[in-house]
Parts: sequence; C-alpha cells; structure tokens
Amino acid sequence: MSDDFLPYGRHSLDEDDIAAVVEVLRHGALTCGPQVEKLEKAFAASIGCKHAIVTSNGTTALHLAVLAAGIGPGDTVIVPTVTFLSTANVVHMVGGTVQFADVCPETGLLTAETFASALTKCAGPVKAVMPVHLTGQACDMAGISKIAAANNISIISDCCHALGADYQGGGAPGDGQYEIMGCFSLHPVKSIAMGEGGVVTTNDAKLAEKINRLRSHDMHKDPAHFSRHDLAFDAEGQANPWYYEMQELGYNYRATDFQCALANSQLKKLPVFVERRRYLAGVYDELLATHSNLVRPNVRLPDSLSAWHLYAVQIDFKALGKSRAAVMKALAAKGIGTQVHYIPVHEQPYYQKSYGKQSLPGGDKYYQETLSLPLFPAMEDSDPERVVRLLTEILSAT
Ligand SMILES: Cc1ncc(COP(=O)(O)O)c(C=O)c1O
Repeated sequence: MSDDFLPYGRHSLDEDDIAAVVEVLRHGALTCGPQVEKLEKAFAASIGCKHAIVTSNGTTALHLAVLAAGIGPGDTVIVPTVTFLSTANVVHMVGGTVQFADVCPETGLLTAETFASALTKCAGPVKAVMPVHLTGQACDMAGISKIAAANNISIISDCCHALGADYQGGGAPGDGQYEIMGCFSLHPVKSIAMGEGGVVTTNDAKLAEKINRLRSHDMHKDPAHFSRHDLAFDAEGQANPWYYEMQELGYNYRATDFQCALANSQLKKLPVFVERRRYLAGVYDELLATHSNLVRPNVRLPDSLSAWHLYAVQIDFKALGKSRAAVMKALAAKGIGTQVHYIPVHEQPYYQKSYGKQSLPGGDKYYQETLSLPLFPAMEDSDPERVVRLLTEILSAT
C-alpha cells in the first residue's frame, strides 16, 4: 500500500468476501432470500438490540426511521449542522422542518448545550433530535437524552460512522439505550462494506414491523390486516392467493441477497477491523503528540470508545497562512488523500433558501479547521508516520 496513493478511506475485501458473493450468484436467490434475514439477525446481535432492518443505503435507513417515527408536516427535528446531507434531507423528504443545532468546535459533535440552545429557537413542536456520532465517536448521549426526555423528544441516532463504537459504560450507539432507532450506512468507506447498504436498529417491535413494510411498498400480505374485504377474499371467505394491500405510501428500499452476503462476510471481521482502526489511530495520536504542534487530533469524549471511521484533525490554517485546498493538493501530489467532513449543512444553498442564513459558530469553526487523514484497516503500520511527516513538512514550509 505504501507505494500507492493512500486514500482517506477504503474498504478491505478478501477472498472469503468474494466467495460469499459468488456463492449467492451461483446458487442463491438474488433478492428477498435468506441472506437478508441472516444479516439482520447478526447485525442486531452485534449491536446488542432486538431488531435490525436492512435497507438499500444509510439514507434510506434514515428516511424509513423518520417515517416510522411519524414525523411529517408541522414537526420540527433538530439536526446538528456538521453531518452528511442525508441527516437533514430525510426530514424534508417527509415534509418536516429542520432546526439546525450547533456543534462543539473541537469534536464536531452535538452536545447537551448545543441541543438545548437549538431547542430555544424552535417555533413548532419538536418531535425528534438526530445526534450524529461523527467520525465514529459517540455523542454525550446521557446528557442529550436527559434533555430529550424532559421535552418529550424522540432520539433517532445517525450511527452511519459508528458501527463498532462502544460506550465506556457498556453498550453501543444504536443499541436503544438512548435512541428509539439507530441508522447505519454500509457504504465502502464505512466500518464494513456492502457496496450500498443501510440498517435501522430498534428495540421496538412495532417500529421494526413498520420499517419492514415501508421498505417494501407497504405491501401487507397478512389476511388479518386486509381492509378491502371485497377484493381480498373469495365467496367462501378465503384470502385470494395473489392479494396484497398497500395502506400507506411505501418504497422499494430493499437490498439484494448478494449485497447482504458480502455484508454477512464483512460483519464477521468487524472486531478485527475496529481493532486495527483503533491501533492506527493510536499511532497517529502518538506521532502527532511528539512531532507536531500544528495539528491537533479531535478532542475525545470520556464516555466513547470510537469506531474510528475517520481520523479527523484540526489545523488552524488561517494562523499558519495556508489554504486548506493548497495543503490537500500538496499532500495529494505526494500520494496522500485527505477529505473534509463536512461542509455545515446549514450553509447549503438549498437550506439557505428554506431557512435563510444562520450563525452556528461552533460548526463553522470545526469546518474551517477539520481535515480527515487516511485511516482504514489495510493501511501499513508505517503509513501514519509518512502522513504525519509529509503533512508537517507542508504546513511548516515557508
Ligand atoms: C453521517 C452520515 N449520515 C448519513 C449518510 C448516508 O449514508 P449512505 O451514503 O449510505 O446513504 C452518511 C454517508 O456518507 C453519513 O456519513
């Protein structure tokens, strides 16, 4: 890997993964087969929750979660501004209103304070808050959930970065300790790769059942739930064998069996992947502590053991008189990929059209200074040293 371009993130596939997909392609059902349920069971067991519902990607997982939570026109949802577009977009997809919350400038995370402050700005009833466990580090869920409970607000966790994360006190984001639902992405740069894939986790059987149906056009096939008796049953009162019924607007957000076969194979390696990410993050920490006062690793929260989806650092580009774009280009010229996670969503033209310009200084500061350095399990032990050396050289050059 060291001689090649080092991207900021990359999936790790091996022959077992390929064989698992080929096996389904040769012998299995391509969709709606046993690999889906197998993944759902294994995923729920790995998170420590009762139900997991697999979807076509993290965005559709979030969309189904807000639909199942009953969010719609007139409902406000609090979303931290430093996140990927989808967290806010799904609220608009169901006709809800987004109230952007500020984040801690040192971690990029929603905090109890920034949540409370966003709450004071909401005009309408607040139905939900969507903490995002950015970079794989869990938010202060104990603090956030106290405020949510006091205000009758549901928590839907965006766990897209957090598969493999743990709370120091036990449990994991998405296990339902704090949230009614957790939503995961299995995009290739995430903790495990499925191509495109998503999962909703919950401990609530009714929510699980609703998500399961909405994922497949809201097609009811259980005669006990049919409402059009004239169409559903014959003269003897027997259900017609072809009959299905749609009672709400549903979607096709299913994943295929060959994708689920890949995710099943990858999920077995999650502990190894996370251990490797934690090791490499530790190497970065040590290198940065001894070699660079120009680069600050993101501040860590005491309650979180990160899944290390990203190794994000903070650099005061302004004080150094360097542009981030120039630093990224210089690194890329030397074979090092970096990325910025994320442009605050309230700055997007679409949301400015909806809500006007807003001041969220924590999010803006985080955005100005953040840079994600390469981190993925297949990196060589020597790669972090190369990244830190080149980054320090570029930042110190006059
Ligand atoms: C925080 C966050 N939320 C949601 C998503 C959407 O996931 P997907 O790309 O699988 O739709 C992503 C993916 O980048 C993400 O990082």
